Amino acid sequence: MKVAIVGAGSGYMPGIVRGLLHRADDLAGTELACYDIDAVHLDVMTRLARNMFAARGAAFTVSSHTALKAALDGASYVFTTFRPGGLAARHLDESIPLKHGVVGQETAGPGGFLMALRSVPVLLDIAEKADAGAWIVNYTNPTNVVTDAVARHTGARIIGLCDQFIGDTEMWAELLGLPSDGLEADWIGLNHATWAQRLRLDGRELDVPLLLDDLEVPGGGATPWRDPSRMAELAKTLGFLPNSYSKYYFFHDEVVAELRAKGTTRAQDILAMLPGYYEQVAAESRKADPDPSRERGGGEHGEFAVDVICALHRDEGRRMIVNTRNNGAIASLDADAIVEVPALVGRSGPVPLTMGPLPGPVRGLTQAIHAYERLASDAAVTGDRRTALQALMAHPFVRSKHTAERILDEGLAAHQDHLPQFR
Ligand code: G6P
Ligand code: MN
Repeated sequence: MKVAIVGAGSGYMPGIVRGLLHRADDLAGTELACYDIDAVHLDVMTRLARNMFAARGAAFTVSSHTALKAALDGASYVFTTFRPGGLAARHLDESIPLKHGVVGQETAGPGGFLMALRSVPVLLDIAEKADAGAWIVNYTNPTNVVTDAVARHTGARIIGLCDQFIGDTEMWAELLGLPSDGLEADWIGLNHATWAQRLRLDGRELDVPLLLDDLEVPGGGATPWRDPSRMAELAKTLGFLPNSYSKYYFFHDEVVAELRAKGTTRAQDILAMLPGYYEQVAAESRKADPDPSRERGGGEHGEFAVDVICALHRDEGRRMIVNTRNNGAIASLDADAIVEVPALVGRSGPVPLTMGPLPGPVRGLTQAIHAYERLASDAAVTGDRRTALQALMAHPFVRSKHTAERILDEGLAAHQDHLPQFR
């Protein structure tokens, strides 16, 4: 069995290696074809992987590629985890909307839209070059739009991943005073726009409205990943659990003010720490038994992706939250929408579980985000400026035609080297 890893020089790679180690027995004999356009980072990560596998006696072979086709040839699974244009491009995604009074975020809103324009052409190329029947297991953001573009415009098989639900479930465990072990939430909706009305502890259904009545809104500010105070405030009004990204919708103007006051983008913050991070990983990679702690993404990010590959490959039929075609699982969204939903994942792909309608208070919002995503996906595939403008005008952050035009013109100009479809 061969697995190609596209973006293997990524800072998330140490976590992927750790994820592979945790399923080493189930994947014994697998060839990992590591590909990246950055040969230096690729070299660091492949050395790290080889030494970590050797130290733990894991039966993987690792090959290293800067030519895409060679990495993809013969691969049954193509794991995609790259950021086109890198963090410099993310900085533009985060800062351009903000100039026009709109939240600048890498996946949500116009920032995510600009990222989709860059990601989709690369994914379409991978879909075309991959072996027939291969599964694309995708982490590249915005994962939902990317998954939609590949699913509707190519013959390739794709499953879209995001590990946000793991962190969000943990955050809710803390807020509600529940153990996170054994806690399971049915997150449903669209990637980074999911909601949970049902919560189980060790399989036993919990009374969510009652838990939320008793919930006290904690003080304290937000971190890059968590904003518990706002989440609690929202949940008490909505009557169910919101995903972390919901703050950008329900506290839009406050977040704009905070982002402006902060002065640097998240991309700039990461760029500042990245050289030190790679240096530390490089130093570890030369050891006989490397331990790259402080890894980007944490253990679960990599473990989740590897668990999905195992579920597909071993026909496990395991219940997992993934991005896939709706097929009626969520009654309030189109049958062919790409949704994020609990699904049983086995050899023939994810089978989404019937979840009923979206909760009333966020139904219209989620449908609007879906309308935007569909247009964004079409614009990213076709390079049609009018469709791109329609996408931004459909997005709940934007609406205003002139604001949409300004962000689009500035975004297309800033990213032109990565947007062949718009030339
Ligand atoms: C979460 C989201 C990802 C996103 C990441 C950004 O994990 O689910 O989709 O890319 O956060 O984290 P960062 O550290 O790059 O800001
Ligand atoms: Mn995500």
